[in-house]
Amino acid sequence: MTVLITGSAGFIGFHTCNIFLQKKYKVLGVDNLNSYYSVKLKKKRIDILNKNYGSQFKFIKTDIIDKKKINNIFIKYNPKIVIHLAAQAGVRYSIENPDQYIKSNIVGFFNILDCSRMAKIKFFFYASSSSVYGNNKNFPLSEKYNTDDQLSLYAASKKSNELIARSYFNIFGFKSVGMRFFTVYGPYGRPDMFMYKLLESMYFNKKLYVYNHADHYRDFTYIDDVVNSIFLLTKSKKINKKSYIVNIGRGSSIGLKKIITYIQELTSKKPNIKYIKMQKGDVKKTHSDLSNLRSLIEYSPKIDYKKGLLLFLDWYKKYKKIK
Ligand SMILES: NC(=O)c1ccc[n+]([C@@H]2O[C@H](COP(=O)([O-])OP(=O)(O)OC[C@H]3O[C@@H](n4cnc5c(N)ncnc54)[C@H](O)[C@@H]3O)[C@@H](O)[C@H]2O)c1
Repeated sequence: MTVLITGSAGFIGFHTCNIFLQKKYKVLGVDNLNSYYSVKLKKKRIDILNKNYGSQFKFIKTDIIDKKKINNIFIKYNPKIVIHLAAQAGVRYSIENPDQYIKSNIVGFFNILDCSRMAKIKFFFYASSSSVYGNNKNFPLSEKYNTDDQLSLYAASKKSNELIARSYFNIFGFKSVGMRFFTVYGPYGRPDMFMYKLLESMYFNKKLYVYNHADHYRDFTYIDDVVNSIFLLTKSKKINKKSYIVNIGRGSSIGLKKIITYIQELTSKKPNIKYIKMQKGDVKKTHSDLSNLRSLIEYSPKIDYKKGLLLFLDWYKKYKKIK
């Protein structure tokens, strides 16, 4: 059975491809390899999949904005499961580069959704984000809460995805699962994210701007917990009749100060940090309620931040050839 995974050269996409390939599925990866961050890292991820899985994995470099090409891919490869992860990520970048969010996250999203519907895909899985909760302070954040107040265009694009997917259920009965990821980290992680930048600051003395004077709290979620959840959701018998929105997090909130102190202890190095004020678009705290996820897949996240950071650090040192 073929699984189509968009954003396959991205962080979560790469690991999602990996788990489906390990489970012996055929995987078709789609990505435009854009230069939002290191193209070398994106190509490295694809090289690993090609090397480890040979013809079980096929990669197509294409832009999801091109609906004709996307439709031809559906016709040619006839995927049975679609996991749509390609998007322009990043909250702060959406302030300076709004166009890309409309193109990739709205038009691109629609193209994959609509082609999936035409191809009669049973369930459409797509990435949403904890950012849709805005500054909601009722922790832990539950899918039952109102999410009408997004603080950034990135968050608004993700909320729009949920609404568009919902309308496709109401009009066509086309079923979907929107997965609200909470700050994912781990090996082959994104260089634009806090954990990665913190290590760059420690080992290469790169200046790290820490917003809101580090008075931020995030539900840091280790990548293995995320991809195990995605895989189990696609297998869940409990997902059968409607459109779902589901949090995928660790279920606890950790302060950035705690992370900085812990990495300092692990590495015996001092980061080059400049503490600055709160930025527009940022939320202060995230903390996921996982009862919905647990009811669908009996999932329990296994990796706490201490273990996760050790694994991440281990990978980072190997990747950067640090002794
Ligand atoms: N990493 C997180 O903490 C996090 C949190 C919440 C939501 N998400 C969402 O999860 C998904 C995956 O995130 P990630 O962290 O792996 O990001 P990523 O940037 O590493 O991966 C996204 C991939 O999509 C590709 N892409 C972007 N626009 C494209 C287009 N128009 N056509 C084809 N490919 C395109 C990029 O080249 C990239 O490889 C995204 O939808 C993101 O918004 C991530």
